[in-house]
Amino acid sequence: MNISLKSPLDMHVHLRQDDMLRQVTPFTSEQFVGAVCMPNTLPPVDNLERYTSYISNIKDAAAPHSFEPYVPLFFRSDYTREELSSAREQLFGIKLYPAGVTTNSEDGVAELKLIEPVLEIMQDLDLPLLVHGETSGYSPDREREFVDVYDHLATTFPKLRITMEHITTKEAVEFLDKHPNVFATVTLHHLLYTMDDMLGGLFNPFLFCKPILKSAEDRDAIQQLVLSGHAKVMFGSDSAPHTEILKRTEGMAGCFTAPVLLPMLAQFFEDHDQLDLLQAFVSDHARKIYGVHPPERTVVLEREEWVVPPRYGSIVPVNAGETLRWKVV
Ligand code: NCD
Ligand code: ZN
Repeated sequence: MNISLKSPLDMHVHLRQDDMLRQVTPFTSEQFVGAVCMPNTLPPVDNLERYTSYISNIKDAAAPHSFEPYVPLFFRSDYTREELSSAREQLFGIKLYPAGVTTNSEDGVAELKLIEPVLEIMQDLDLPLLVHGETSGYSPDREREFVDVYDHLATTFPKLRITMEHITTKEAVEFLDKHPNVFATVTLHHLLYTMDDMLGGLFNPFLFCKPILKSAEDRDAIQQLVLSGHAKVMFGSDSAPHTEILKRTEGMAGCFTAPVLLPMLAQFFEDHDQLDLLQAFVSDHARKIYGVHPPERTVVLEREEWVVPPRYGSIVPVNAGETLRWKVV
């Protein structure tokens, strides 16, 4: 038995740069024909020159597969109308990380004031906003607290397309239908795991990520949302590799899921007798929401067991050592 997926997309991935970029990109380009590649490199992708070279580096690393990197610019509150409108045709969107904004502001309101002129320009140019939606509050509550910010943004800029990246809570799920201009990505790890999988027994640093894994109730709400086939919901892995040594010594946040994504997703949908929903979740919804036309390629999974290796070079994947029942051909 096989599963054929037409042009699967990963709408949120960290491919890093230099050696790590070359090491991790093939996992994504084998399984996906395109991806939203996040701009939080060092330095961040926040000008056109870095943007162009980042895209070309990703394409080189993705060869021999034809692969379309959709790179949102890293949000800067001083982007000008001229800068964004002259580049509009090439740009995919802009990614907002509130932590970067908070350093320049005393409180939430000042923070929002600071970003609004750019949001106004983005709305005029129909340039999507992608958001890491967390406050700097108590870790498990950060996303819930941010829902008010989403509400403010979606109300103030009703024509701005806003994607709540990597949603993890039932509050975010409930909020999704409040505004027609709000969309969401869901990761594999937030779909499958709870905080207990990370620290209910011995601490598993490879499941430590931001947003932090949540309760079973939140996880179940995310599962129900995805299993409802909701058209505003796209798959975005947030695969975020760090070396094993940095995960263990510095406590870096991020789950490296890239090698197991489609096999684990197939397993999840099959376990819920909803394999027919996989195609839309990993491609059709995103194509419609963003109006993108990714390369046409069919990715085939076959029913064959394989064991996830303990590490890929210096990086430990999620589910290391586990037997999976679907394999990418
Ligand atoms: C991401 C990373 O390592 O770049 N980490 C993570 O835990 N998801 C950054 C991010 O998306 O927050
Ligand atoms: Zn991310």
